[in-house]
Amino acid sequence: MRRKVLIGFVIGALSVLPMALQAGSFAGKDTRSLKEAAGGRFLLGVATSPKVLANPVDSALVKRHFQILTPDNCMKPQAVQPSEGAWNFKAADSFADFARKNGLQVTGHCLVWAKDDRTSAWMMEENGAPVSRETMLKRIETHVTKVAKRYADVATMWDVVNEAVADGGGEQILRDSVYSRTTGMDFLVTAFKAARAADPDALLIYNDYGDHNPAKLAKIVTMLKELKRLGAPVDAFGMQGHFQIGEESIKGMRNTIAAMRELGLKVVVSELDIDVIPRNRWWTDGGKHREELAKINPYPDSLPSELQQRLATQYLALFKVFVENSDIIERVSFWNVHDEESWLNNFPWKRVNHPLFFDRQRQPKPAFDAVHKYLSAPENHVRPPSPTP
Ligand code: XIL
Repeated sequence: MRRKVLIGFVIGALSVLPMALQAGSFAGKDTRSLKEAAGGRFLLGVATSPKVLANPVDSALVKRHFQILTPDNCMKPQAVQPSEGAWNFKAADSFADFARKNGLQVTGHCLVWAKDDRTSAWMMEENGAPVSRETMLKRIETHVTKVAKRYADVATMWDVVNEAVADGGGEQILRDSVYSRTTGMDFLVTAFKAARAADPDALLIYNDYGDHNPAKLAKIVTMLKELKRLGAPVDAFGMQGHFQIGEESIKGMRNTIAAMRELGLKVVVSELDIDVIPRNRWWTDGGKHREELAKINPYPDSLPSELQQRLATQYLALFKVFVENSDIIERVSFWNVHDEESWLNNFPWKRVNHPLFFDRQRQPKPAFDAVHKYLSAPENHVRPPSPTP
């Protein structure tokens, strides 16, 4: 894996200049690079699609700043195996080819998405009846093996299982889904073992959101301990990192990192963004605020400068924690390249969002400036001792 990283870095660095010039004058003038500023403390990554990679301005931005790409949708189970045995690798292959051609790495996402609304009907049934445990485990093994082998040359990390833990308080550790109902925790064990067998060098990740909520973190830790006991080869926890403006997330993040340190696991920040139009209330009070929220679209043209500054301050605080803990943080990946691409323009309601480092003109925002400056400062390359939790 280390060799793949080094070769990727050299090719990536050589390719930055000509592409930046091709991509337009702004890119040619601004020679800053986020991955260079990170300087090997962790990999810088981004989730995106073949469509964005086909746009020369966007692909130049990707190559300049990032070392590792996550397919945002095209490698998901429903995309690559829409019905049993009917594989569709067209988009995922083109995504992987872009990475290969440009000396970039891939985080495969995701081999199992443990939610019923993200699972095709065929996976849930067998001859018109609910799928048996044996068949489900076999199907998972087949899927994981096929996909992980196909991209093993370029994927250095895999989100093996996504979002398996139940939200909120309560006793139930695993989210209720066809996977947990049918197999308990065994679907996770099968998926991780198959991923290890198919791509032995890759970092295998359990990926989830909401870990800055202490109740959910406790469940995640319980599940990870149990997986270890059952012999599932989990290497890292993927902290999705979908934050909101004004949210106090630092304490929770430190708790998560400390917990993973104790379990002997690595951490990846897998899906970083900061929603500037807070969305919490979408899920509270049985969804009764949704009609009102769906009308909220406060920044249709641009983000006011006061908010730009708040976004910068919040991102900077996050990156300080990443640097402090860079001995166990392997990667920090944004979820999408620029504000126009962000999934938060559509989720959970349609609005014009501004959660990332690059705006709709693909220009770096104050958040980029602040974090780039911080990462570049030589004094921040010396990691202070990790804080005691
Ligand atoms: C999202 C994509 O960005 C959207 O385009 C799609 O409609 C739904 O999925 N957590 C994950 C990602 O692990 O797979 C999700 O991606 C965002 C939340």
